Amino acid sequence: MKEVLAELEQRRETARMGGGQRRIDSQHKKGKLTARERIEVLLDEGSFEEFDMFKQHRCTDFGMEEQHIPGDGVVTGWGTVNGRTVYVFSKDFTVFGGSLSETHAEKITKLQDMALRNRAPIIGLFDAGGARIQEGVAALGGYGEVFHRNVLASGVIPQISLIMGPCAGGDVYSPAMTDFIFMVRDTSYMFVTGPDVVKTVTNETVTAEELGGASIHTTKSSIADGAFDNDVEALLEMRRLIDFLPMNNQAELPELTNYDDPERIDTSLDTLIPDNPNKPYDMMELVSKTVDEGDFFEIQGSFAKNIITGFGRMEGRTVGIIANQPMVLAGVLDADASRKAARFVRFCDCFSIPIVTFVDVPGFLPGTSQEYGGLIKHGAKLLFAYAEATVPKITVITRKAYGGAYDVMSSKHIRGDVNYAWPSAEIAVMGAKGAVEILYRSELDDREKIAKRTKDYEDRFANPFVAAERGYIDDVIRPHSTRRRIAKALALLRSKQVEIPWRKHDNIPL
Ligand code: HXC
Repeated sequence: MKEVLAELEQRRETARMGGGQRRIDSQHKKGKLTARERIEVLLDEGSFEEFDMFKQHRCTDFGMEEQHIPGDGVVTGWGTVNGRTVYVFSKDFTVFGGSLSETHAEKITKLQDMALRNRAPIIGLFDAGGARIQEGVAALGGYGEVFHRNVLASGVIPQISLIMGPCAGGDVYSPAMTDFIFMVRDTSYMFVTGPDVVKTVTNETVTAEELGGASIHTTKSSIADGAFDNDVEALLEMRRLIDFLPMNNQAELPELTNYDDPERIDTSLDTLIPDNPNKPYDMMELVSKTVDEGDFFEIQGSFAKNIITGFGRMEGRTVGIIANQPMVLAGVLDADASRKAARFVRFCDCFSIPIVTFVDVPGFLPGTSQEYGGLIKHGAKLLFAYAEATVPKITVITRKAYGGAYDVMSSKHIRGDVNYAWPSAEIAVMGAKGAVEILYRSELDDREKIAKRTKDYEDRFANPFVAAERGYIDDVIRPHSTRRRIAKALALLRSKQVEIPWRKHDNIPL
């Protein structure tokens, strides 16, 4: 028995060493942790249970029969984050560059199957060179199996991808079908084809960072939902994110002990809105003063900053927050902001996370670049997403709610459950100046007359009461009581149930 135990220990030690000390050192030199070190940071101490540590590839081409490294380039298993189960696979760049072979794919699909069967989130840590070149089509088949399971699990369990090194070729599409992608700055990049192929096909000269680094994917392409400075920060932030998420689409919301009084009032909010309606203010201040302890996990914080999306808690329970940001482009809805917010609304709806919307929106952004870029369809995505969402929806209009954007931003008409407005709200077809210029075009030369017309329009519509008189707004609330009113509304809506007619699935304007 002793010898068998010794052999087991020796086999385990070999597997733990992955591609060997030289490659581990090289990984560290690049500022990256190894696959196993990453899992240690991600999971609660001592909670990791590994599967398939001894699994090896079956390839016999290109001398591969001579090169066997147990584990085959991916570490898989499950553990806990603050006591809650998560499944994790972590690509090991020290083993054949983390490339995906048939057996490597089998390890991942086994984990995906388990995560789906047992209804717990799955996290993939990526650091890999794509398909195992020596295996050819077997690797392609492996990718296909992984992709299919990503789709089957979508909307059933949360799926998160963290890119911590190269992620190219076949490796990009699995993360792309998960709920969230995060990256590590400077050490990770994602692209379908790398700089060399780009040069050959399009004659463009780009570096890996310029083509697919975190700086590109968090600001330009919006592929990534956030980026962090190093492996440790990224992994700790994933723990923070998981704390916000339910285990699956039928699970209760996680409920953390809450030390922030839901009745807390904040008088500073009474002066948040500037006297001049064209002056911006920071909507993030309202967000952080509303949620428990100001704890807010922002999603896509560097992309389409004219809208804020992210998770907070009210009375210890997760809420999704969507808020126009007047500091950027006056909080206007453009194609990027609409897409960003639509995807976030749909995530919340999949996992029964109530949505709180703060509205200060001057409308949709006019212009050829927006129209040519499909603003109609992108704007419709957000409208569609809000309208189909059956989770509790609470809306607070702080200032402008103009035109179609009023309807879109979780209005009563698309089944907003509780719709509040601050006294500073202006709910109208458009701003007074624009309205008067259209209605009284013939009087435009008479400045005095126009000033009076503008004042009349403002007096009539630059307030929340016309909408409140119709019941489009349930109450006009004092800004300082926003947290209290939202907390009460969320408590009221915990038992919300909505019947929807059967359909295979909807046809959101993609
Ligand atoms: C097998 C690979 C590999 C791969 C890297 N390695 N990629 N082995 N298959 N795809 C091995 C290297 O041989 C090397 O082995 C070790 O991993 C580290 O690689 P380096 O090149 O030394 O590292 P680095 O300089 O950091 O460059 C990393 C890299 C580069 C940018 C990822 O290795 C690279 O370009 N790899 C190929 C990427 C690629 O074209 N993949 C196929 C994509 S096509 P040793 O023994 O020296 O340590 C694809 C199609 C699927 O994925 C589509 C499905 C839909």
